[in-house]
Amino acid sequence: MDRPASVGELTAILRQGGYLADRGLATALYVALELDRPVLLEGEVGVGKTEAAKALAAVFGRQLIRLQCYEGIDTSQALYEWDYARQMLHIRALSERQVADEQAVEKLFGPRFLLERPLLAAIRAGDRAVLLIDEVDRADDEFEAFLLELLSDFQISIPEVGTVRAERPPLVVLTSNRTRELHDALKRRCLYHWIGYPPPDTETEIVLTRAPGVSEALTRKVVAAVNRLRELDLAKPPGVAETIDWARTLDVLGATELTPDTAADTLGAVVKERDDMDLVRDSLEEITSGG
Ligand SMILES: Nc1ncnc2c1ncn2[C@@H]1O[C@H](COP(=O)(O)OP(=O)(O)OP(=O)(O)O)[C@@H](O)[C@H]1O
Ligand SMILES: [Mg+2]
Repeated sequence: MDRPASVGELTAILRQGGYLADRGLATALYVALELDRPVLLEGEVGVGKTEAAKALAAVFGRQLIRLQCYEGIDTSQALYEWDYARQMLHIRALSERQVADEQAVEKLFGPRFLLERPLLAAIRAGDRAVLLIDEVDRADDEFEAFLLELLSDFQISIPEVGTVRAERPPLVVLTSNRTRELHDALKRRCLYHWIGYPPPDTETEIVLTRAPGVSEALTRKVVAAVNRLRELDLAKPPGVAETIDWARTLDVLGATELTPDTAADTLGAVVKERDDMDLVRDSLEEITSGG
């Protein structure tokens, strides 16, 4: 399948692929596909931003090309660079054979010595790929400006090689954890969707999809407890990923109930900060009650 016929169809396809998207997210992704627009997903930690791109690639049989952003990332790591080591070896071979003519030198900056990085790979793959630009908020301003340019025309000119252009752009999914505000210009180019914590029923379904075999009753208790944890003032509130981990952990230990004791034994699956741990330990009774 190439493109879904409706938002409903996209939702259904993603669900078959194990990803549950609510109406708002499915709409944003559908429009992104239809209009060839990048989509920016922001949200809490571990709510399925990265997974959305992976799921899209999987269900449409597209190649997933991932650019993980970090502080100091630059174009040579993101776009392309020259294979310096191979160029040197080649030069040495040439000089041994004493054939360092003009053409041989030209070839040093030809396709053979070009190292393709994710963005160049994505331009070349065009709409056969999903380009995931993950955690773009970690990259710095200059890189964001460069991305903006790239996203507007999907074309890049490599002086020694020529212009590379995507016939149809890849589907681009950018994610951000909001460690800093992104520029308006970048946001304007993108469709935007905020992914919040899913409602309990949905989260239960996600856990059951991702951790088949865990009982539904236990899963509901875990989801209820996680939702209480999110109401506490934790430094690192648990995401969906933690809910899944907690359910799996309890299951592997053979627990069928979430009691203050079983919760205390397994808190490390869901609370990952020492101060948070202290806070949570004081209210385990309340957190595990009901659900
Ligand atoms: N809607 C969903 N449907 C199915 N699985 C989900 C969904 N949301 C989250 N998950 C599960 O939660 C895990 C974490 O999701 P993901 O890594 O995409 O979070 P994230 O938002 O990118 O988090 P981070 O901010 O830490 O990068 C996924 O591996 C997946 O198993
Ligand atoms: Mg992520």
